Amino acid sequence: MSVTPPGPEAPVAARLRGVASSPVRDLLALTEKPGILSFAGGLPAPELFDHVGLSAAFQSVLEKGSAGRSLQYSTTEGDPELRRRVADRLGVRGLPTDPDDLLITSGSQQALTLIATVFLEPGDRILVEDPSYLAALQAFQMSGAVPIPVPCDEDGIDPAAVERLVAEHRPKLLYVVPTFHNPTGRTLSEARRVELAAVMERTNLWAIEDDPYGELRYAGEPSTPLATIPGAAERTLALSTLSKVAAPGLRIGWVRCPPGLRRPLTIAKQAADLHSSTIDQAATARWLAHVDLDAHLDRLRTVYGARRDTMLELLPGTLPEGSEFNRPDGGMFVWVRLPEGLDATAILPFAIERHVAYVPGAPFYATTPDPRTLRLSFTTHDPAEIRTGMERLREAFRHATG
Ligand SMILES: Cc1ncc(COP(=O)(O)O)c(C=O)c1O
Repeated sequence: MSVTPPGPEAPVAARLRGVASSPVRDLLALTEKPGILSFAGGLPAPELFDHVGLSAAFQSVLEKGSAGRSLQYSTTEGDPELRRRVADRLGVRGLPTDPDDLLITSGSQQALTLIATVFLEPGDRILVEDPSYLAALQAFQMSGAVPIPVPCDEDGIDPAAVERLVAEHRPKLLYVVPTFHNPTGRTLSEARRVELAAVMERTNLWAIEDDPYGELRYAGEPSTPLATIPGAAERTLALSTLSKVAAPGLRIGWVRCPPGLRRPLTIAKQAADLHSSTIDQAATARWLAHVDLDAHLDRLRTVYGARRDTMLELLPGTLPEGSEFNRPDGGMFVWVRLPEGLDATAILPFAIERHVAYVPGAPFYATTPDPRTLRLSFTTHDPAEIRTGMERLREAFRHATG
């Protein structure tokens, strides 16, 4: 076995130090081991990818006549046909959009990084839900910004707390995942959306509305996008992605920006990667032209809805007595709070020993973690596997609680 000697220490920027080192990250690497039933990642079910439709789309844009364009450099804003199709879809979903308002990004994750580049300077404050999407926290921290957690409950973020924290911290931005939140699965109530828009107007607070999961609704009525509510509409950058409804490997996301921000965001993207993959954008536009998206989404909703129901049915018999969990109307996640005295990070090794995994909630908190929390994803495994996984998890909790 060869051992590479350590090289000289590289002069890595200070902003990376805090972001890179998390004990939970090392634990999570173990959850990817073969044989583990993982409820940890937010992975779509691979058997539901439309690989036939996508392979036809890729083939078609690589045919003579199209290949020259599909394989060439392109504009930073993104493929015009793809922007038109995404804008049409957003319109159907209640968010009227001009294709020119859209910047196609390499996943919505890149949109977060670009917005951080455009808005945030070292030391700037950004309000985030408590807990919040981990990789968004990382993107903000990489800009040297300081995330300020805002209290949340079953109805999502508390608008009165937002107003108080704006007065206290003068943040540059608010970051919210209002529908089927990651990690909690919660949805901001309609009344709170209106209240939040009023707070944004009163305080001139700008917001990022991140919505990767809104199309995956299994119950209830569609939510109103914050980006359509007066007061919020003029100040909201709305992000979404095809990762959860088509395939994350495409890396197709977008930001819908208020007019003055189109240019700075485009310049930031130019500096980052010139443009997102031309071939992937062309194939995705072709796929959207041919797929029956409503039928595809109905299938996802039916399958994921059944998986959610299976997990919710089994959780009371799986979790230790006194645990709490929510019943999300959509998305991919259930949020669990273990009883007093239990620590989800400390129990994870017992779960991994039994070939099952979850994500402890701790890393999703910007400042003070709640060690009792954990996130379970119900989309990746079929009901039989969920059943097996829940049995293993029950054993792990039994072992941990003696
Ligand atoms: C809330 C949220 N935002 C953004 C993303 C990034 O998704 P992508 O870059 O694949 O579009 C995710 C992925 O899990 C997410 O949960």
